[in-house]
Amino acid sequence: MELVKPGVKYKDSFVEALKDGFYLGSQSPMSDDAIADIEKDFEAFLMNKVLKPYDPTPRLRDDGKYYPNAPQIPYWLIDEGKFIGAFNLRTELNDFLMYIGGNVGYGVTPKYRRKGYATKGLSLLIIKARELGMNKLLIAAKEENIGSWKAIEKNGGVLENIITLPWQNNGQKYKRYWIDIDNSNL
Ligand SMILES: CC(C)(COP(=O)(O)OP(=O)(O)OC[C@H]1O[C@@H](n2cnc3c(N)ncnc32)[C@H](O)[C@@H]1OP(=O)(O)O)[C@@H](O)C(=O)NCCC(=O)NCCS
Repeated sequence: MELVKPGVKYKDSFVEALKDGFYLGSQSPMSDDAIADIEKDFEAFLMNKVLKPYDPTPRLRDDGKYYPNAPQIPYWLIDEGKFIGAFNLRTELNDFLMYIGGNVGYGVTPKYRRKGYATKGLSLLIIKARELGMNKLLIAAKEENIGSWKAIEKNGGVLENIITLPWQNNGQKYKRYWIDIDNSNL
């Protein structure tokens, strides 16, 4: 199992994952039309959406303010040549991401869930982050997203606090964790 740079050779299993309902973070599963477009020109999708060059232009965030865009490295978790999930590493945090969002966005394709892949993928991501000179990672998960915060805790995540977001009025709680890379035994 490895975390790799996304590439054309994973097209078949990636598209299968999308059809199966794979999505990352807060995005919803894609429509059939959107998946068909990706399948038609997978290289363009990779270059324009997944591997797009870093653009620092400030971005409007959910709190209604603009923040500098954060640089992000996309990795795919591959097992036996097949796409399992996506793990995005933000190497810098702006004030918004420091509050919610954090350094990591990840998702495992539905048919591979509850097999330990998120836990393993996160541990491989911690190793990548260490190689890049990072010494800690902030990761946030919805309180009811048990699979997510368990994977974080199994990788040494220490709960900092549980917050609600002032711009959301649904009482949704988020658990904010720090992983201390320097003292991680990975
Ligand atoms: C959250 C997610 C990444 C977990 O992936 P996963 O590969 O199933 O996680 P793991 O198999 O490593 O499971 C970690 C732990 O959580 C448990 N778990 C996983 N999903 C669970 C669920 N839906 N309900 C209860 N426990 C769950 C596992 O049993 C395991 O605990 P255990 O070792 O004590 O048995 C996956 O469900 C997903 O991609 N969801 C949609 C996107 C998302 O929410 N991303 C995270 C954003 S913060």
